[in-house]
Amino acid sequence: MDGFYRILEKAVSGEFLAVPEITVLLCPPDEAAEKALFDAAYQLKCSICGKVVNLRGLIEFSNICTRDCLYCGIRRSNPKPHRYTMSVNEIVESAVLAGEFGYGSVVLQSGERSDPEFVDMVEEILCRIKELPFELGITLSCGEESLETYQRWRRAGATRYLLRIESSDEALFRKIHPADAVYSERKAALRRLQAADFQTGSGVMIGLPGQSVEHLAADVDFFRQMDLDMIGMGPFLPQEDTPLGQQYPDLPGDAEKRLKLSLRMIAVTRLVLRDVNIAATTALQAIDPARGRERGILAGANVIMPNVGNVSRRKDYQLYNGKPSLDENSSEIREKLTASLAEIGEMPRFNEPGDPLHYSKRKLLKKISD
Ligand code: 5AD
Repeated sequence: MDGFYRILEKAVSGEFLAVPEITVLLCPPDEAAEKALFDAAYQLKCSICGKVVNLRGLIEFSNICTRDCLYCGIRRSNPKPHRYTMSVNEIVESAVLAGEFGYGSVVLQSGERSDPEFVDMVEEILCRIKELPFELGITLSCGEESLETYQRWRRAGATRYLLRIESSDEALFRKIHPADAVYSERKAALRRLQAADFQTGSGVMIGLPGQSVEHLAADVDFFRQMDLDMIGMGPFLPQEDTPLGQQYPDLPGDAEKRLKLSLRMIAVTRLVLRDVNIAATTALQAIDPARGRERGILAGANVIMPNVGNVSRRKDYQLYNGKPSLDENSSEIREKLTASLAEIGEMPRFNEPGDPLHYSKRKLLKKISD
C-alpha cells in the first residue's frame, strides 16, 4: 500500500480511499505529517465553506432521559443531576436570544423520551420558534423516535437532526450501551431521519476504551456509506458518575492524546466526505478550554455550537466532566468566540442557516434519478 503522503495526495485530489488507506491517514508518522494532514483538511474546508464558521445556538432543554448509556452523565440511573425540562416559554426566549445574536440557527437538545407529551411539546416549541419574526434554522437532537414522530417534527419546522451512532462497530457499541440500546435500531433511526427528509447528522466518540484506529477508519467509512450531511464527533470524556467513567478514569496525558486523535478524525473526515458540515464540538473545548474548538476549525471543522440556554441549567446537563462555560452567560460566550475566531483569521457567519452543501447535492441527485 502507498505511504502516508501518497495517500494524503490521493485524498486531496478527491480519489476514493479504501478503509486501510483511511487508517494510514489517521496515523501520521511524525509531527510534520500531522501538520500536513491538518493543513490539507483546513484548505479543503476553506475552499468548500470559506473562511467562515456556522453558528448554532445550543439549547439543552431537558435532561430527563429514558436511556442508560454507560458513558453519559444524564443516564437515567444517575441520581445526581437535578432533572429539569425548560418551559416552552423559556426555550423560545433562548431561541430569541440566539436570533438576536445573529446565530442563524439553533440546536434543541435533550435526553431521549418518546412519550406523547414530549412529542407534542417538541412540536409546539418548533411551531412557536417558526412564528418568530426572524428566520431561524432548527436542528433537533432528541434521540431515536418513530418515523411518524420524525415526520411531525419535520413538518413543524425542524430541518436538521443529530443522532450519533457513537461507534459504528457493533461489538463496541454493545460494550458502551445497556441491552436496550440496539445497534441496528439506531442505524434504522438514521435511515428514518433521511426518509423524513432531515439533513441528517451523526458521529462517534473518540478514544473509547477498546477502540482502535481501525474502528475509527471504519467509522469514517460508515459516514460515507450512510451519505450523511453533518458530522459531530468528540473525545470520550470519562464522567465520574457513570460505569464507564468509573471503570476507565483518565490517566495523565490521556485527554490530550484523545484530543489529538479527535482532531485527526475531523481532518480525515473532511478529506473523505468533503462537502459535509463538521462540528468543532464542546468536548474538544472541555480538554483544551482556550483553543479546543479553534483547533477543530483548523483541522477542517466548520460549525460551532455556543450555548444560549440559561446558565442556571448547565450544571445539570453534564454529559461529561469538565464541560466548559458552566458559569458564562450567553453574551460572554458570543464575545469570546468572535474574538478567538478572529485570531485564527475566521469569521462567524451571522444570520444564515448554514446548510451543508452535501444536502442540496443529495436532493438534486435524487430528483434527477426519480
Ligand atoms: N464523553 C464524551 N461525549 C459524551 N457524550 C455523552 N457522554 C459523553 C462522554 N462521557 C456525547 C454522546 C452523545 C452526545 C450528545 O454527547 O456522543 O451523542
